[in-house]
Amino acid sequence: MKDSDYSAQLPPTYDKVHRHEMFPETTHDETARFNFITNLNQHLSTVSAGNRLAYEKRVRPDFQKENGRDFNNRHEVNQAFKSDPYWQTWSALRRNTMEMRHQAGRSVVLRQINTLNKKAEQLNAGKSTLQLNPEIKSPRYASAVDIHCQPGGYHTEICEGDVSVGANYDSGIFVTTTGGVGPMIDGGGRAVAKAVQDKFPDFKPKRILDVGCTIGHNVLPIAQAYPDAEVIAVDAGAPVLRYGHARAQSFGVNNVTFLQADVENLDYEDGYFDWIQTTMFLHELSSKSIRHIMSELGRMLKPGGLLLQVEQPQYTPDMDLFEQAIRDWDCLYNNEPFWSKMHGMDAKKIMRMGGFKNENYMEFKAAAETIDGDVTKPAKAVSEDHGREALWTVFGAWKS
Ligand SMILES: C[S@@+](CC[C@H](N)C(=O)[O-])C[C@H]1O[C@@H](n2cnc3c(N)ncnc32)[C@H](O)[C@@H]1O
Repeated sequence: MKDSDYSAQLPPTYDKVHRHEMFPETTHDETARFNFITNLNQHLSTVSAGNRLAYEKRVRPDFQKENGRDFNNRHEVNQAFKSDPYWQTWSALRRNTMEMRHQAGRSVVLRQINTLNKKAEQLNAGKSTLQLNPEIKSPRYASAVDIHCQPGGYHTEICEGDVSVGANYDSGIFVTTTGGVGPMIDGGGRAVAKAVQDKFPDFKPKRILDVGCTIGHNVLPIAQAYPDAEVIAVDAGAPVLRYGHARAQSFGVNNVTFLQADVENLDYEDGYFDWIQTTMFLHELSSKSIRHIMSELGRMLKPGGLLLQVEQPQYTPDMDLFEQAIRDWDCLYNNEPFWSKMHGMDAKKIMRMGGFKNENYMEFKAAAETIDGDVTKPAKAVSEDHGREALWTVFGAWKS
């Protein structure tokens, strides 16, 4: 193997991240800390193979011996895993990397918060494409816990004009995804934009809605792919929108309106949008809100329009219980209270909640642009290579 083949097995270093105008600056030590956590994440992902071994050699045989039967579901697997020393150590380290990542991001952001707030204020000044509404409160299901250990969730403001939550989010995604979503952390959005252009060349959306946009990183590639479209990016959190709008301005993307609103109560007329996109949004919704939001998205989409949802894979019956249990880790130990329930649902059933018909259902994989060693690989619509490329599950439907 060549030197570059070996180094390609390591995660990219933090200097590969794209430093746009809003991006928090990092000192040498802060960069080193991010690199350490990225590598620890990568290491934990690699040694998670030991969990499979523990499952096959200890956890499953012990359960079978004690109960005279095999596991019935992922919940039983997770319960049994709790007593396994390998799982305990791996899980504790994984939780710690998440806490360290947020601590590292927060310390980077808070020491320059006034500068970041000022930059955002300047980039946002006089722009009608940022529409904040102080009446909007983050829904209880999105704010009752610090989602994925993120201090203050998506909504907390610690001073006037605060962007700290958004800046922390932006600075740390590279670390949690081990650089797998590209230098601009927008691999999911790039992959979806390319997939839609490749698969549906005649589809020319005029109005696009992105719900739960956070800092809008994944909607910008879509807006860039359809520069003549009017794009509305909605979120309930003011600090992420303030940051996201300023970030978009620094990229020169001007066709996205960042709107603070509750997706459950958007007052767009029926059939207003040609394309509605959600990215890593559904798994953070309570069971009640998912039903209502799906029905609203179905209402706001025009007949012939497209609804696409990017998520981690659903737990289909052909996914083995070990894999389901490992994927449930986020729910049990990373403050993602609705993750397990949502991923246990049939994706077609979710679409039916919005009035979509089974015969219009679609599902495909989209690959995110990623950094491999020193090379940034282009996004691919479909990839068979599970190597270091982030694969996203996309499901959705045309509205009839
Ligand atoms: C996991 S993040 C989405 C991430 C982002 N779309 C991406 O591309 O990675 C979920 C976002 O949905 C927002 N959210 C949740 N419920 C909402 C609601 N009812 N109305 C508006 N925003 C909501 C949260 O504030 C949060 O920013």
